[in-house]
Amino acid sequence: MNDSNSDTQQLLKSAVGQAAAARVASGSVIGLGTGSTAAFAIEHLGRRLRAGDLTDVRGVPTSFDAANLARRNGIPLTTMDDTPRIHVAIDGADEVDPHLALIKGGGAAHTQEKIIDAHADLFIVIVDDKKLVQRLGSTFAVPVELLPMAVVPVTRAIERLGGHPQLRMGAKKIGPLITDQGNMLLDVTFDAIDDPAHLERTLNNIPGVVENGLFVGLADLVLVGEIVDGETHVRELSRSTA
Ligand code: A5P
Repeated sequence: MNDSNSDTQQLLKSAVGQAAAARVASGSVIGLGTGSTAAFAIEHLGRRLRAGDLTDVRGVPTSFDAANLARRNGIPLTTMDDTPRIHVAIDGADEVDPHLALIKGGGAAHTQEKIIDAHADLFIVIVDDKKLVQRLGSTFAVPVELLPMAVVPVTRAIERLGGHPQLRMGAKKIGPLITDQGNMLLDVTFDAIDDPAHLERTLNNIPGVVENGLFVGLADLVLVGEIVDGETHVRELSRSTA
């Protein structure tokens, strides 16, 4: 990607982050997503708090990274133990299909993300238009978090399903990536994902699997950043229109 493309991506991510943050009402408990797009939403929430435009909110972070970012932006944090009702969750995605089914987990945070996003009254997904696909799995592998002692049996079980799993390796660390939960992760490509809901259940049914990155039937609203006539534009896709 050249510099101007990547500047455009940043601009689109910021626009959707701002549009999502603008929908949050004072008094809300907010699920705070993980990733470069969700980071913009957290920054924009922080700006609204500092400006006094938003008050009395608490965030439930979906990862160690989201928690740190929220602290840096002055967003008070809580947990699902203390605050089980989440009014709105804002999170990014790696792929979005026409039914608003998602692949998530590019940042290996999908397990906590799914718990928090699934429990929110309203789950808003924020993406740039490059994340829209006709079919899940066409640009991105499905991340599968698993217990470290189950790498071999889970790999074999996924191969029997027709998937091609690859253990995700750590960056600046020798050996596999370790998730926030102390687990490992397989990135699984499939020749075709015909039924994402069925695959989501089937993967989670393999003993040793903790959670996979297919999010089917969870997104309520997707905010898509795109350039229209040279201007940044945020398009809304909702479950009723999908
Ligand atoms: C984190 O594990 C992911 O689910 C992210 O939300 C997803 O990978 C999107 O990340 P970006 O906004 O950085 O593309």
